[in-house]
Amino acid sequence: MEILPDQSLQLVSARLFLRPLLENDVDLVLELFTDPEIMEYAGGPVKSERIRAEMAASVQRGADGSIGVWCICKAQSKAPIGTIALLPLPVEAEDTEWELVRTGEMPDGDIEIGYFLRKEEWRQGYISEAVSRVLEFAFSVASLEEIVAVIDPRNTASRKVLERTGFLSEGDRRAYRETCPGFRLSKSGWLAGRL
Ligand SMILES: CC(C)(COP(=O)(O)OP(=O)(O)OC[C@H]1O[C@@H](n2cnc3c(N)ncnc32)[C@H](O)[C@@H]1OP(=O)(O)O)[C@@H](O)C(=O)NCCC(=O)NCCS
Repeated sequence: MEILPDQSLQLVSARLFLRPLLENDVDLVLELFTDPEIMEYAGGPVKSERIRAEMAASVQRGADGSIGVWCICKAQSKAPIGTIALLPLPVEAEDTEWELVRTGEMPDGDIEIGYFLRKEEWRQGYISEAVSRVLEFAFSVASLEEIVAVIDPRNTASRKVLERTGFLSEGDRRAYRETCPGFRLSKSGWLAGRL
């Protein structure tokens, strides 16, 4: 596996600019992950101390750059508005297992996509746009064969994002030590959806 040049990790779409998350994005991460409303269907708010402690781990990239967290910015102003990630899906663990995100290795098991957006920016199609752009990266630049997602059954917005971007429901599955609705999109399914 060849290390992807940093430039190929900068993803541009019509209204957005996605770049790898940096340690000094901590204010955005604190805003997103401590907010009870944003975290309502994603395990509840996280304590600031834990976010700060995990910042160094959460900017690491695995599989030669292919997986990790991106900061979603507005294309013109470059203002950060959210995060989107490709990370190993925790099955019988409660949270992301950062130790599995290692430079030269694609971890065993499923890779999940997850996203969080500032509340002011909800309902403008930004996450559907960001997911589409990350899928294009994952399947046409990186060498991922399949991406999964899991949701809280009450998370209508996230379900719509997944359906809209081509994910197929696979019924209930285990993730985050719970049973929850699962979704899956293969590279061949993604290619077929583009025709
Ligand atoms: C989920 C989330 C990322 C969606 O972002 P978004 O940019 O508002 O999504 P989009 O604008 O692309 O909307 C996608 C669809 O969901 C709908 N939608 C958005 N918010 C909704 C809500 N609160 N209730 C019902 N539908 C909603 C949109 O109308 C759109 O529907 P359409 O496909 O029929 O047009 C955002 O609501 C968020 O950050 N939520 C908190 C974090 C979270 O739950 N992340 C997912 C964890 S799995």
